[in-house]
Order: sequence, then structure tokens, then C-alpha cells
Amino acid sequence: MENTENKEQLQTSERKKRIFSGIQPTGVFTLGNYLGAVKNWSKLQDEYDCIYSIVNMHAITLRQDPAELRRRTIESYALAMACGIDPDKSILFIQSHVPAHAEANWVLGCTTQFGELSRMTQFKDKSAKHADNINAGLFTYPVLMAGDILLYQADVVPVGIDQKQHLELARNIAERFNGLYGKTFTVPEPYIPSAQGGAKIMSLTDPTKKMSKSDENPRSCVLILDEPNVIIKKFKSAITDSESEVCYREGKDGINNLMTIYSAVTGFSFESIEREFAGKGYGDFKLAVGEAVAEHLAPVRENYARYIADKGYLEECYKRGAERAERIANRTLEKMYKKVGFVAR
Ligand code: TYM
Repeated sequence: MENTENKEQLQTSERKKRIFSGIQPTGVFTLGNYLGAVKNWSKLQDEYDCIYSIVNMHAITLRQDPAELRRRTIESYALAMACGIDPDKSILFIQSHVPAHAEANWVLGCTTQFGELSRMTQFKDKSAKHADNINAGLFTYPVLMAGDILLYQADVVPVGIDQKQHLELARNIAERFNGLYGKTFTVPEPYIPSAQGGAKIMSLTDPTKKMSKSDENPRSCVLILDEPNVIIKKFKSAITDSESEVCYREGKDGINNLMTIYSAVTGFSFESIEREFAGKGYGDFKLAVGEAVAEHLAPVRENYARYIADKGYLEECYKRGAERAERIANRTLEKMYKKVGFVAR
């Protein structure tokens, strides 16, 4: 007994830290998804043991067209690969392929309070926006998300700032469960870029709002597969302010957002951007941002075209991803079931 514990402890201390994150397959990823999260996922692959998921179970909290959801799930898988997720290095899988997510959701739901879920701002926003479909899944969605993370004993979760509250809830659930039943879960830490590093990329037509693929105005949002001329056009029509100085300052939401994007894709500091555009107008700046984004995303578009054309390879990858994910998730689920007092089969 003691020996096994020692061995387990050794394995934990020897293993690389583990990362888990997910993205919904509700359309082509936006520049916000990319700069806030997916770009980091790819960057972290060497240093961490990474597990990434296309979270299709989360997607049905809003009404989806079934055929479209199926297609978009595969496309999102190919997109993640196009953004640099290597399915040999990391585990990349489709959430519904691992039943442990639905099972963990039930157990964790019984460890989560109604009041906690009622405080989730995303639930309030989404239920206001979809008043005709305030389903129970939309309300308990953060529990499913906590399960995603906790099943893999993730140490670190790279997300944009909009997921911070959900992540805090996941930490609370983990701590509560550990307190009630004994140590079961690793309590995960968020990995969120700084505001200037892309934690929240704003809409191009209303820079006080988050860039989101569900926005009705297509010009508000850059999709990572947009053609270069479309990207440039969207940036050219981006809303700024009535001044003319390119500088990062409170109240200049539009320019701040464009500077954040430009800095994220070029690596230039804010000082050097201010220097580059001193004495030039917003027109020049917007064009430069559009061109830089188009150039940065060109390889993603090329990779995507290659991956999506090879459905056989994609299938091979997601099947293997699910098998690898399942092995880890089932181990945690078994532990959870034992802790809460379920009789072993
Ligand atoms: P989702 O699919 O809405 O977004 C995926 C990731 O993109 C980030 N993001 C942004 N970052 C910066 N600026 C923006 N405008 C922007 N828009 C989106 C999100 O913060 C997210 O990191 N519930 C999650 C998916 C999920 C998950 C998980 C994440 C399910 N299980 C477990 C982490 C761990 C969601 O709906 O993300």
C-alpha cells in the first residue's frame, strides 16, 4: 500500500504539469479565440502535458442545427490542428467521445450550489439573449466545464478573461469535493494573458463589447479563415475615436484594441507602435493592423485547407485522442465514484 502511494507520488512529481482547455465548435474561431486562448495552447505544448477538447456538449446549451454541429465539430478539430495543436504531442479530442464528462457532471452537480450557479455572469447574459431557451444545461454548464478540467487533474487552464469566473467556480468545486471526501482533484490555476496580451479582444464595431462569433454584425469579428482582403476591409472599417493619435490610453477603446491585436501578431511593443505611427493618421494604422493580421493568419488558412481535405487522417486523430483522454478521465471518475460511495461494478 505504502509502496504504491510512494510510486504515485513520484509519478506526480516527475510528470510535467498538465494543461486542459476547450473550445466550442460553434463556428470558425475568431481572432479573439485565437489570441486569447488557442495561440497559447500551441505555445505551451512543449513545456506541459497538454489536453485540448472540442467541447461539443457545451455547444448544445444553445440551439444548434444537428448537421451543422457535426460538420463544425470536425472543422473545429481541423482548425485546432491548423493553429498548431499537434495531435501526437498533445491529446486533442471531441468531448462527447469521452462519456466520463457527462458522468462527472452529475456527481459534481451534486457538489455545486444553486446560488453559485445563479451568480455566473455568462448565464445571466446568455439567458437574457436567448429568453426562449433558458434550459437547465445553460444553467449547469459551468459544472460540465469544471468536470472537463478536474477529470484530467489539470494544473493550469489557458483561457481568455471571459472564462475566469467559471474557472474560479471549478476551483471552488474541487476544493469543496476534496474537503468533503479527501484529496481527489488537483485545484487548477488559470493562465490568462494580460489585457494588453489579448485576454479580451474587443469587437471591431463596438470596442466596449467582446469580439464574439455570435455577433450579428459580421464586420465586428475577424474569423481566422477570413480571406486577406476581407480581414483588411474589416480593420479599415473598425470603429475608433475622433482623435488622431495612435497611443494606448484610457477611453481610447478602439485604438487600444487595435494596438493589442497589432502587438500580439507582430510582437512589437506599444512604445514602438506609438513611434511607428507618430504623425500618421488612423487610416494608415488600421491598414497596417489588417495587413499584419492577414499575414499572421495565412499559414493557419493553408494548414486548415490541408487538414480538412483529409477526413481519414482527422478521424484517425480524433479516435486516438479520445482513447488517450478516456484512459485518464476514467481513472479520475473511478476515484470520484469510490469517494462518494458508489458500489464498484
Ligand atoms: P469559447 O468556446 O467561448 O472560447 C474559447 C476560448 O476563447 C477565449 N475567447 C476570447 N479570448 C479573448 N478575447 C475574446 N474576444 C475571446 N472570445 C473567446 C475564451 O476565453 C476561451 O478560452 N466554456 C468555454 C469552453 C470550455 C473550457 C472547458 C475552457 C469548456 N470546458 C474547460 C477551459 C477549460 C467556452 O465556451 O469557450
